[in-house]
Amino acid sequence: MRSIAIYPSSVKAHNSHHAAGQGIRGVTTMTIAIIGTGNMGSGLARLLASKGIDVAIGHRDPAKAAALAAEIGPRAQGGGSEAAAKLADIVILAVNYGSAEEALKGAGDLTGKIVVDISNPITPDYKALTVGHTTSAAEEIQKLVPGARVVKAFNTIFSQLLPSEARGGREVQVFLAGDDEAAKEAVSGVVSSAGFAPVDAGPLSNARYLEPVGEINIHFGFFLGWGTSAAPAWIKAA
Ligand SMILES: NC(=O)c1ccc[n+]([C@@H]2O[C@H](COP(=O)([O-])OP(=O)(O)OC[C@H]3O[C@@H](n4cnc5c(N)ncnc54)[C@H](OP(=O)(O)O)[C@@H]3O)[C@@H](O)[C@H]2O)c1
Repeated sequence: MRSIAIYPSSVKAHNSHHAAGQGIRGVTTMTIAIIGTGNMGSGLARLLASKGIDVAIGHRDPAKAAALAAEIGPRAQGGGSEAAAKLADIVILAVNYGSAEEALKGAGDLTGKIVVDISNPITPDYKALTVGHTTSAAEEIQKLVPGARVVKAFNTIFSQLLPSEARGGREVQVFLAGDDEAAKEAVSGVVSSAGFAPVDAGPLSNARYLEPVGEINIHFGFFLGWGTSAAPAWIKAA
């Protein structure tokens, strides 16, 4: 099992084998931090590790993250949220929207980092959104970490579709919204590496429209009989 060591020197050692230019554009290391060990956190960690990307999993209970990392294997390490975030330029926040503030606090100083918001701010019965029209979960998360660059992604993908096998070779789009083009491009690289088709959906304020797309996908998947392989696709019909 690889637990995250707490000394910055070990962070350096961990990343030293990633040659410059080998990583995703605009990102200096290829380690991606994932905060949360639930459906999405564990699914993304497994998927990225399977594509050769090192993942640092963080949780407020470091043992929980370390246990998941041990299951995943040598590409994964786990520990506290702050220790995990320190290892990466890209931090995927894989917690429920209601836990975002607490989880971000637990992740320490995220200044300059890219924070990927995957959330759908849904009601307990999954049938509606709690935020919308004039703001979005992504924009509210950006306000919580003003020094970070927030990119919305993956909110329209059910966790069941994360394993490559679940997609059976079909192209599945992941919509990205963000105000920092370099950050969006970097996350786009992660999305491609994960085997999804990245689609630029404009500025972060467009998360106001992506989150409802996530919500209607939940309706299709859970309430309209499509199941959890449902996913939206934007087409150019001509
Ligand atoms: N599930 C999907 O198919 C899906 C699809 C698209 C988007 N999303 C979005 O993805 C996010 C995660 O969904 P999920 O289904 O993975 O939820 P989940 O299975 O409930 O997992 C949430 C994870 O966040 C952890 N957590 C809670 N507070 C935390 C904190 N302060 N610090 C660190 N970790 C904390 C939880 O830990 P504990 O278990 O110990 O509480 C758990 O590991 C949500 O925002 C959801 O809207 C989900």
